[in-house]
Amino acid sequence: MTHFEITHKDSAGRIGRLYTGHGRIETPAVMPVINPNIQMIPASELATFGAEIIITNAYIIYQNPELKSHAVTKGVHSLLDFDGAIMTDSGSYQLSVYHDIDATSDEIVRFQQTIGSDIGVPLDIPTPPDASHEQAESEMRRTVRRCNEAHELAGQMLLAGTVQGSNYPDLRYECAHNLSMIGFDVYPIGAVVPLLVNYRFAEVVDAIVASKKGLPPSAPVHLFGAGHPVMFALAVALGCDLFDSAAYALYARDGRYLTSEGTYHLADLQYLPCSCPVCTSYTADELKDEFAGGNYIPLAKHNLYATFTEIRLIKQCIVEGNLWELVERRCRAHPRLLDGLKRAVSHADWIETLDPVQKSTFFYCGSESSYRAEVLRARERLCRFDLYGTVLVRTRTIPGEDRFDHVLNLKPPFGAYPVELSETYPFNAEVSEPDYDAIGEALRNTLRLIELNLDASFTVVCEWDHPLIAGIRDCPNVEEVSVPA
Ligand code: GUN
Ligand code: ZN
Repeated sequence: MTHFEITHKDSAGRIGRLYTGHGRIETPAVMPVINPNIQMIPASELATFGAEIIITNAYIIYQNPELKSHAVTKGVHSLLDFDGAIMTDSGSYQLSVYHDIDATSDEIVRFQQTIGSDIGVPLDIPTPPDASHEQAESEMRRTVRRCNEAHELAGQMLLAGTVQGSNYPDLRYECAHNLSMIGFDVYPIGAVVPLLVNYRFAEVVDAIVASKKGLPPSAPVHLFGAGHPVMFALAVALGCDLFDSAAYALYARDGRYLTSEGTYHLADLQYLPCSCPVCTSYTADELKDEFAGGNYIPLAKHNLYATFTEIRLIKQCIVEGNLWELVERRCRAHPRLLDGLKRAVSHADWIETLDPVQKSTFFYCGSESSYRAEVLRARERLCRFDLYGTVLVRTRTIPGEDRFDHVLNLKPPFGAYPVELSETYPFNAEVSEPDYDAIGEALRNTLRLIELNLDASFTVVCEWDHPLIAGIRDCPNVEEVSVPA
């Protein structure tokens, strides 16, 4: 049986269903991280925020005799008092911090199976960014071997195979490919926490894309350690389905208030810009007083509400086919996220292979929109037209159009397309006054169309001047070009 099915797609993102021993989980999903030693918010309450699945650390349970005995005799669901799905991590994170742990991968996988984990994780080796290629490669191979061995021990438990490879796309790809040959139920992308905490979002994007390219498109992907709602939209649009959030609690302990547009220091808030049950029952000053008195729980709860709100918005955007617009808005929260967006659009040819063709309206939200998958695809299609006779390419209706054999509308960022397509997606795009990049892309594509149709004779009427106009004017099959004086 397949454990994951996809119901909606947009960009490389999707809404899916993951089937576990404790119910069906709709993805994209966030798994709140529960520390079995200190539960800031009891796991039993998490469902009310929207959590269908949580994640805890099997190694912490394994090391603590009391927790271990409870988990072994009554199971991890009883230990945490949660009857939804529970994913358990292996201690790899401790491995990355302390460089050694007191358990083998086999022991920890067997333990996860014994305590009734729904999704278990072998002891992968999180190679940090900036390690040598040699180190990353040898640790990646060890990770694949351990994941392979875990397969024999997992029984009914779903098993995650974590993609490693540091910041080497070739190794991420190879790891993902090798793991998918073995076959896992979930594919986490590992060792991105050091990138996330240093705002190295462009490299996170590269790690995601390289890993995704090595995996079947139908496989569920977890971005390990990503819990800030501001980057969910970007990660989902690149094909991540699962997230885990310790951020809701860690940020709360630090006095930080999460929103999908960035983080506030509670101390700076005069108002609470949210309507969750916490923010409608406390004033900013009251929330600060609670925090000052050592009560982080209301802030942690707000952080969880903000986290799940963003996930629901992302799902709605996927259904409507406008996830990428949300990504562009979110990535304006921080310059380094904008770097992530720019890196993401550099992978547009890959996104394009996964993006469903038919959507509603395209909104042009800035120069990065010029490189969106549907723009690339539309431009490709436009060059396939066979033109003959006289062709008018113009940016708006002009008198005497009907004497031409073809009339093409020139619309940034696409290029020239038959006027008959003006009302269809994506040419019905809402575009404000186009910028230099968008005009450039449209003219580049027009030039290509002209060069591919040497038997046709072109007249171009463009309302914007641009350096590429000179190239168009130089084409032997261009009769006339007019631009503003
Ligand atoms: N938690 C955060 N990063 C990682 C990782 O790379 N592997 C595992 N197993 N857990 C993690
Ligand atoms: Zn709130």
